Amino acid sequence: MKTYISLWPSAAPEAPFPRTLAVLGSTGSIGVSALRVVAEHPGLFRVAALAGGRNAKRLAEQAAAHRPAVLAVLDNATANELRALLPAGYAPEILTGPGGYETIAALPQVDLVLSAIVGAAGFLPTLAAARAGKRIALANKESLVLGGRLIRAACRASGAIVLPVDSEHNALFQALCGHIEDGHGADLDKLILTASGGPFRGRDAAFLAAVTPAQALHHPNWSMGAKISVDSATLMNKGLEVIEACQLYGLPVERVEVLVHPQSIVHSLVEYIDGSQLAHLGVPDMRIPIAHSLCYPLRVSLSMPRLNLATVGTLTFEKPDEGLFPCLRLAKQAYAASHSHPAVLNAANEVAVDLFLSGRITFLDIPRLIETALERHAALPDNADAADLLAADADTRQRLLADQA
Ligand SMILES: NC(=O)c1ccc[n+]([C@@H]2O[C@H](COP(=O)([O-])OP(=O)(O)OC[C@H]3O[C@@H](n4cnc5c(N)ncnc54)[C@H](OP(=O)(O)O)[C@@H]3O)[C@@H](O)[C@H]2O)c1
Repeated sequence: MKTYISLWPSAAPEAPFPRTLAVLGSTGSIGVSALRVVAEHPGLFRVAALAGGRNAKRLAEQAAAHRPAVLAVLDNATANELRALLPAGYAPEILTGPGGYETIAALPQVDLVLSAIVGAAGFLPTLAAARAGKRIALANKESLVLGGRLIRAACRASGAIVLPVDSEHNALFQALCGHIEDGHGADLDKLILTASGGPFRGRDAAFLAAVTPAQALHHPNWSMGAKISVDSATLMNKGLEVIEACQLYGLPVERVEVLVHPQSIVHSLVEYIDGSQLAHLGVPDMRIPIAHSLCYPLRVSLSMPRLNLATVGTLTFEKPDEGLFPCLRLAKQAYAASHSHPAVLNAANEVAVDLFLSGRITFLDIPRLIETALERHAALPDNADAADLLAADADTRQRLLADQA
């Protein structure tokens, strides 16, 4: 039985170049890096569609450069702003509202979808791509947390495949290739996700109680969007990634470990039953996993400094402090609890991060809010569908916001 949704060499369907690409979340950190990869290898891709949220200016610049036939934004005001910024003589179709992202994800002319919207908003577009049988380069980990089981089922039914963009899961994929054929994986023992530890590694509770959004947004190694930067500071990012790894590779949560590695050079490891550990190393630049997932199985050159281990000198590793950073524990507990608890965890985290960024709660309140939401959630039945999970998501948000009012 296939228990993974990543593509394995033995299962590689034909995916000729140039690949026709749709980028969901093109105006974000991942989207911008992906378009840099595309610009470096213009012969490999045709950009068919770009989708942003509300950043009309950046989307207009991207659209002018790549000339896709379809664009999507969140609302009419952004669409009007965008239309006015496009060059004369270029009139793409502009879709608006959440449904536009799902339309783009399933466009018949698109064979490759980069799913890089942030948060639960990426779930339905990712599910639409999975149902439409697309090759999905997945950055939006929240969609696997919210409804990984549904995405896996849609992939199985349609033949869609998911290639992980997240650096850790891409690292695992690279360390697994050639070792697991057809999903048996009998020689695989565990997955080890590395974590930078975030900006507050080694700090105490008194320090954490007073940290500001600006401090939380300042990641030591990676340049990323606001939400994932705060998630890295709380270690919720690693919690979401544990769930993402379970969904991608079909392992129980007990066989996915987390190892803090402050230099962010070793991006993750796979341990086999003979004790061998295979790791993926590289500079911390998302263009590497993005290019790998967009081009797989082709490897392409990237104009960036190469990893020089002699210059790095020292690589260190330590256990995560789950006492001080309880989000990691909460994520593992939610995944073990039920099919719907991860959706609640994710929604509560999104609300808590927004409240923290807007100065309404403290950093240490983030796990407290999430724990409250998890405690009051009654598990949905195993056959819960997308609408059920999204209702749990909406209910969680509503109740947490009501608590703050
Ligand atoms: N950044 C990284 O290095 C990194 C690494 C691994 C995984 N990821 C994952 O990749 C995803 C994107 O992260 P990011 O750092 O690129 O985030 P980001 O910089 O905040 O960008 C988010 C993108 O999503 C769009 N967006 C926001 N809300 C939306 C909504 N409600 N509907 C539709 N589009 C919406 C934004 O549009 P506008 O800006 O136009 O409003 C933007 O294009 C996340 O799931 C994250 O966990 C990121």
